[in-house]
Formats: sequence, structure tokens, C-alpha cells
Amino acid sequence: MSIVASSEFAFTQQDFDLIARTLYDETGITLDNSKATLVYSRLTKRLRVLGIESFRDYCSLVSDSGNEEHARMCAALTTNVTRFFRENHHFEHLKTKVLPGLISAARAGKKIRIWSAGCSSGEEPYSIALTILSILPAAREYDIRILATDINPHVIATGKAGLYPESEMSDVDSALRSKWMERVTVNGVKHYQLDNDVRSLISFRPLNLMGAWPMSGPFQVMFCRNVVIYFDAPTQARIWSRMLPLLDTNGVLYIGHSERVTGTALAQTQVDGTTTYRKTIKAAA
Ligand SMILES: C[S@@+](CC[C@H](N)C(=O)[O-])C[C@H]1O[C@@H](n2cnc3c(N)ncnc32)[C@H](O)[C@@H]1O
Repeated sequence: MSIVASSEFAFTQQDFDLIARTLYDETGITLDNSKATLVYSRLTKRLRVLGIESFRDYCSLVSDSGNEEHARMCAALTTNVTRFFRENHHFEHLKTKVLPGLISAARAGKKIRIWSAGCSSGEEPYSIALTILSILPAAREYDIRILATDINPHVIATGKAGLYPESEMSDVDSALRSKWMERVTVNGVKHYQLDNDVRSLISFRPLNLMGAWPMSGPFQVMFCRNVVIYFDAPTQARIWSRMLPLLDTNGVLYIGHSERVTGTALAQTQVDGTTTYRKTIKAAA
């Protein structure tokens, strides 16, 4: 029996459970039954593209982790909502409490590394870059880099392109827009494209937080906002305990408005503002 009303494809509880389990194992994202309609509507598009006639057949495809549809399904079920300067108090904190020290260090030749984990389509790392450029226009001349990662390769591609409709720009200061973006028209719609000076500060890379992390740090700043909210409590604690060793002593971690640092990581941090944590103990050598 279908668990979604008036559905074109039968979608049983067994199908939903298999999809939820597959997504959880791969990404850490948890889905309860209230998400059945959302899962159905996102995945029917995939069934149509593939010419598959039932969710049962689709499930046998995606339960094979070697099948490319496995990764496509996981990407299709991620929530990628984001915007420029979202939770702007973090960018104010970065600008006034963190960057002055980091810029002095960069001027003295230190490497500055910032990680935007779960960066979605790039608005978050570009907001970080614009915040840096607003006080250090010559940022490119220093060893300052932002690593922007996400599990979803489609949003990573959007981030690399750095092209956004004008309608998304209302939270970007007009002076920053005119200094660091080009106006372009795409299919009759006005867009802004981040220019090379901004884009060259950021490396966009696909990365599943559940898998191995190739980078060794240290990062002086980490943004991991509105990502772990989709994970269960043990997975959240595990992510924080993996991130903290990569954060420099006195480094800052920004998290989403409804998230909290939990588990063993808590003992290594102190609150430095709203959903803002500073690392307090020395990183293991
Ligand atoms: C709601 S968006 C948040 C974007 C941005 N950080 C912000 O706050 O505006 C959550 C992002 O986390 C990513 N994500 C979810 N699970 C992930 C995982 N296991 N590894 C890496 N990224 C993941 C999703 O693809 C999505 O782009």
C-alpha cells in the first residue's frame, strides 16, 4: 500500500525505510515518516529520468552503493537552503573579533585557513570572502584560503560558477556588490557573478562529512552551520569531535542557530557569542 496519497508510483513503507536507511548510512541524514511526501516528490523525478516504473526497482538500484544512482539519490535528498550573509551576526563577529588578528598574522607571513563545511551553493563561503575583502582588499596577496565543501556535487558546481540571480543579492551590501561582482544577464534574467579576486580565495571540493577527511588543518575558522541539524545526536557529537582537532588553538567555530556543540568537543571550547565557539586547548601535535 502506498504511504503517499494519490501517487503515480506506489511508495510503500518498506521502500521508504530502505531509502531512509541508505541515506543515513551514507550521509548521516535522518528521515522520519513525516518526510515521506518530500522523499516521494524528489525521487519521482529520478524514476522518470531513468524510466523506472516502481520504487521497488529504484530501491534495488540505490541499495547498491557502487551504483551511481546511490550518490544521486543522496544528493537529491539533501536540503540546500542557504543565502548570502545568513545569520549575519557571525559575519559581524568574524569581521570585528577574528579577522583583525588573522590579518595581522597573514601580514606576518602566516597561513590562514577557513573551512566552510556543508557550504551548499557557495553563498556562505562567498560571504566569508566578501567579509575578508571588505577589510583587506588585497587579500589575494596573502596566504589566505577558504575551503568550501559539500556532499552534493551539484551545489559545488554552482559555487564554483559563482553566478547568482539578482533576486538573491538583497543581503549583500551594494558597495561590496559593485566592487567585487560583475553584472551579467543570463536568459534575460539579471545575475551577479563574483569576480576572480573573490573566487580565487575559495576552493570548492565535494566532501562527505561521514567519510575520510583529506585535510589536516589547522583551520583558524570553521563554519559548519545548518548541517548537523539533519543528523542524530551521536553523529553530531562525532562530527564535532572530528572537527575540533583540526581547529587551531583560539580558532573559532560557527554553527547554525538551532545547533549546539555536544560531546567531548564541548570541553575543548568556550562560548564566544551566539552559536560561536572558541577552541581553548592546544591542538594535539
Ligand atoms: C541547509 S544547507 C546549509 C548551507 C550553509 N552552511 C548555510 O548555513 O547557509 C546544508 C548542507 O549540508 C550538506 N550536507 C548534508 N549532509 C552532508 C554530509 N554528510 N557531508 C557533507 N555535506 C552534507 C547538504 O548537501 C547541504 O548543502
